[in-house]
Amino acid sequence: MNQAENPIGVFDSGVGGISALQAMIRMLPQEHFIYYGDTANAPYGTKETGEVLACVRRVTGELLARDIKALVIACNTATGAAAHTLRKELTIPVIGMEPALKPASEIRKNGEILVLATPLTLHQEKFNRLMEKYGEGALRVPCTGLMELVEREDWEGSRAYLKEVFALYDLRKVDAVVLGCTHYVFLKGMIREMLPERIAITEGSEGTARQLKRVLGRAHLLREDGDGSVELKTSGTGKDLETMERLLQFGIPADPAGE
Ligand code: DGL
Repeated sequence: MNQAENPIGVFDSGVGGISALQAMIRMLPQEHFIYYGDTANAPYGTKETGEVLACVRRVTGELLARDIKALVIACNTATGAAAHTLRKELTIPVIGMEPALKPASEIRKNGEILVLATPLTLHQEKFNRLMEKYGEGALRVPCTGLMELVEREDWEGSRAYLKEVFALYDLRKVDAVVLGCTHYVFLKGMIREMLPERIAITEGSEGTARQLKRVLGRAHLLREDGDGSVELKTSGTGKDLETMERLLQFGIPADPAGE
């Protein structure tokens, strides 16, 4: 069988990666996607690297059993913990995500950049290297508990959480805010309303979709025509699956020009 016909596996610890999946579907509508939300093991962001790697191996095993042609780690935390290892072990392309600090550094004038992400992402070696390159003026803002609010679709709770976070900073000095966790992208519209207009918001969904397209193209794995499809799977409950379906259909998609 022509390998280009095979599905693309995408996963996250829960619903967050659906924000990136939306960008991938927009850019590659003819592809078949299998999205796996590892809700039973969420959150990843407060675990140790080794624990996240074990979760990632389990999820990847399930997706590989479906003959995926490429794997997208639609999670900043899992990318930092596992992408390097998976790239050594797997023969299919592995596409990861990282906080969109580079575009933020290009937009930055002389002010600060707030990088909102999970504690694990912000402590990883991978993120330290990103900070060395693009981190002038950047501040780590760990948002423990915020992904859980998004999982529960608790938008009022998310707003209150973010209000407290932003109150800790002098926003007059801030040039950009990085949404360094795929869950937070569902809060982008809300964050836009909360911040002065001159503060840029960057996130990685469009960049990830572009990278996926590039990698598949190079490997001659792009599905050229026909209708695409999306299958949602979870290690969690039927209720989790319903949340995933709802966010895929109605969740605020990322602004295509927003990166
Ligand atoms: N959505 C994930 C990310 O992009 C992590 C959320 C979590 O499991 O803590 O980092």
